[in-house]
Amino acid sequence: MSTVVLVGAQWGDEGKGKLTDCLAAEADVIVRYQGGNNAGHTVRVEGQEYKLHLVPSGILHPGKVCVIGNGMVIDPSVLRREIEQLAASGRPLAALYISERAHVILPYHRQCDELEEECPGGLRRIGTTRRGIGPAYVDKYAREGLRVVDLLDEGAEERLRCMARRKIEILKRLYGAGGAAAPEQVVADYLAYADFLRPYVRDTSLLVHEAVRAGRHVLFEGAQGTLLDIDHGTYPYVTSSSPAAGGAAVGAGVGPRVIDTVLGVTKAYTTRVGGGPFPTELVDETGEFLRQAGHEFGTTTGRPRRCGWLDAVILRYAARINSLDYLAVTKLDVLCGLPVVRICRAYRYRGREITEFPSRLSVLAECEPVYEELPGWTEDITGARAYEDLPVAARRYLSRLAELAGVPVGAVSVGPGREQIIMLTSFFRR
Ligand code: GDP
Ligand code: IMO
Ligand code: MG
Repeated sequence: MSTVVLVGAQWGDEGKGKLTDCLAAEADVIVRYQGGNNAGHTVRVEGQEYKLHLVPSGILHPGKVCVIGNGMVIDPSVLRREIEQLAASGRPLAALYISERAHVILPYHRQCDELEEECPGGLRRIGTTRRGIGPAYVDKYAREGLRVVDLLDEGAEERLRCMARRKIEILKRLYGAGGAAAPEQVVADYLAYADFLRPYVRDTSLLVHEAVRAGRHVLFEGAQGTLLDIDHGTYPYVTSSSPAAGGAAVGAGVGPRVIDTVLGVTKAYTTRVGGGPFPTELVDETGEFLRQAGHEFGTTTGRPRRCGWLDAVILRYAARINSLDYLAVTKLDVLCGLPVVRICRAYRYRGREITEFPSRLSVLAECEPVYEELPGWTEDITGARAYEDLPVAARRYLSRLAELAGVPVGAVSVGPGREQIIMLTSFFRR
């Protein structure tokens, strides 16, 4: 058996969906371990694009098993729509299972997320996806949440009613908010969702454990990215879960020794959606070039992504936090046509050079990138399928990136399609 954890090495949207789909060909079980439908993972197969929010990106591989792990928060209305849309696509799909221990997003979580974001000058205005993710995790850790297994329980109706009444009262008192769904509506809707979810629900920790014991290949698919991690990211401009590799063990219900290999996915440049400092951000025509050439608009919210040069300080940090064995570099094709390409190798802070990612946001906000400049290339690389197919300048860029990050490149993606990948190693042990 062998297992791979695939994590975002930046601020999300690195192409984790694409890489997961590629690696799923070799895996038997694909597990999402945190986050919810704040994630938008894109997979393109035979010209058809699939945007996945809750279902693992291995779903387009029939014969495989996909798992929504215990570390996730599930909006059942979104999950039902996603499952129905996938079924309607007519494609053969993998089997899908949902952890009994995953938490459920309720309507007031979404409303609370909206209200916090709308609150003028609000402390917690961080440009969230407004999907109720943060408030659902708050309830989980406050031990006030509703797990999938609780939703399927006999006592669900009364529990839902109590929770809905209490939360709606809190929303009213705290925000003076009207317009919340009536408690009886919440009860009726969620009991219907329970019936929909029931056939998919399993003890998925046991399922993954047994797959590992039977010598299967298991792929853990992270959502968001290292810098959005609640502990290690640019707090408070982060998400409310643990996308970092350590989160895979907790969020899938396996011990840390089950993890063999960790793959960090990075774009060949950097993007970020939402608020917070971003040292290599380009608010000039190169930034606009990256946004247009890379179609950098959010998969979940459609917001334009902020774009900038690749930041090796971030990659070194991601290597440390996640124990990265390899990097998968995506969207290398997007850099085509730029006369020069830059990599940030360090930051300058008040005249001093620093090479470690700072924890203080005020320091990060003042950091100026220290760049290395490399020659660009003009050749179209979207058809490259072997390292040797890449122009010399692109190869130099990759090898310098690996050197500065301190992590070897294990895969290079040169387009959104499943086949547009150069695999330089085998991530699963044979
Ligand atoms: P994720 O959240 O990490 O799965 O990434 P998203 O799906 O949100 O964003 C990545 C976007 O880039 C999607 O539109 C992908 O189809 C696209 N993409 C992935 N890899 C490549 C690549 O190598 N080249 C190009 N041009 N697009 C890519
Ligand atoms: P994938 O899995 C990029 C960002 C939001 C916001 C912050 C908190 O597709 O890479 P949240 O709704 O989670 O409370 O928002 O995190 N964010 C993402 N940015 N990709 C994502 O997911 C993201 N999920 C959340 O923009 O800044
Ligand atoms: Mg995304």
